[in-house]
Amino acid sequence: MSATTYPNYSPGLEGVVAGVSTISQIDAPRSSLTYRGIDVHDLAEKGSFEETSYLLLHGKLPNAAQLSEFKKTLGEEREVPAAIYDVLRALPKNTHPMDMIRTAYSALAPFDPDYTRNDHDANMRKAIRIIAKAGTMVANGHRIRKGLDIVKPDPSLSTAGNFLYILNGTKADEYTEKVMDASLTLYAEHGFNASTFANRVTVSTLSDLYSGVVTGIGTLRGPLHGGANEEAMHMILEIGEPSNAEKWIRDALANKKKVMGFGHREYKNGDSRAFYMTKQAKDIGRRMGNTKYGDIADILEKVMLEEKNLYPNVDFPAAYAYYLLGIPIDLYTPIFVIARVSGYTAHAIEQLDNNRIIRPTVIYEGLNNVPFIPISER
Ligand SMILES: CC(C)(COP(=O)(O)OP(=O)(O)OC[C@H]1O[C@@H](n2cnc3c(N)ncnc32)[C@H](O)[C@@H]1OP(=O)(O)O)[C@@H](O)C(=O)NCCC(=O)NCCS
Repeated sequence: MSATTYPNYSPGLEGVVAGVSTISQIDAPRSSLTYRGIDVHDLAEKGSFEETSYLLLHGKLPNAAQLSEFKKTLGEEREVPAAIYDVLRALPKNTHPMDMIRTAYSALAPFDPDYTRNDHDANMRKAIRIIAKAGTMVANGHRIRKGLDIVKPDPSLSTAGNFLYILNGTKADEYTEKVMDASLTLYAEHGFNASTFANRVTVSTLSDLYSGVVTGIGTLRGPLHGGANEEAMHMILEIGEPSNAEKWIRDALANKKKVMGFGHREYKNGDSRAFYMTKQAKDIGRRMGNTKYGDIADILEKVMLEEKNLYPNVDFPAAYAYYLLGIPIDLYTPIFVIARVSGYTAHAIEQLDNNRIIRPTVIYEGLNNVPFIPISER
């Protein structure tokens, strides 16, 4: 990369305003996040992922009748065409679940009854189908790679409950379902993060919602974004015991290692979602009589703050919360997908409702006036 600086160029687009949105707001100095003006902590604690999805799509919370109708539609739309499972079965057994869910959405698009339509009303229907099928596809995708039978989705359960039911083949207890539900709410939406922005770029060409979701998932997969929750858990397991934590993290920093689950482009005083998720993760640990991961986390957080002035992001506590709930590590980022498709679709619809193609410009630093040398002379 060039060492030259340009007045109108911000590497990584840091601080660049790339659009206008009414969906969510990050207030970095106050470490707060609101969806449509409502504090995400209130939604996680007092609401549900279904209310959150409705809020993101419609702009306001549903009343009781609207919520009941929304849940009914989500329940009815959970089933996935058998052909999607055939596609997933055809993938190599070592396929990462993020590649499975990305592929599943790609294959799903032509099955949507509104496949050829891209108007607002059709897109609202597509959004609900996209949200409804996520948990079914992630959980049954996992069953397929483990050689287990497909489990039919249960329309009477919540999004979190249905995912856990298919994953484990038995219904989750109320506490586990609530923790999962709250984590989906926290993961549902986050402004112009890399994957949501990529999703908006895709639909801004007047491409469809499924293409936007596929773009989003491909972008979310990387460890600097959604993939951080899986990497954070591998790191915690490598550390193993609280007594190893301080030396491990100091060595990592001395070796200029990126510590996954720490830092954020926008939050410099801490990620609001991480505060909530840490509370949850510690609570799970206490209930299970296993506070080891919380203790490791405390040491890493202390050293990271002292040495780098960096706070954990939501992926750090989510990682050991999911681990304590017995969820396979490579499903952590796909769980993020189950939640974030509600944000992706809300953003795609907002983009398409007032569209202009997103097409930035680039500074050229390459060669000029290079003669074409015939192939015989090269
Ligand atoms: C999230 C992230 C990609 C933001 O990147 P960014 O805004 O470009 O931040 P920068 O890379 O400019 O970070 C500023 C400084 O903090 C350091 N830093 C940032 N995150 C770090 C981390 N997790 N571990 C160690 N150092 C980190 C950078 O190396 C940089 O130091 P330098 O100025 O000495 O070079 C980055 O913090 C990161 O890679 N975190 C780990 C991955 C992660 O958890 N992602 C999930 C995000 S929700």
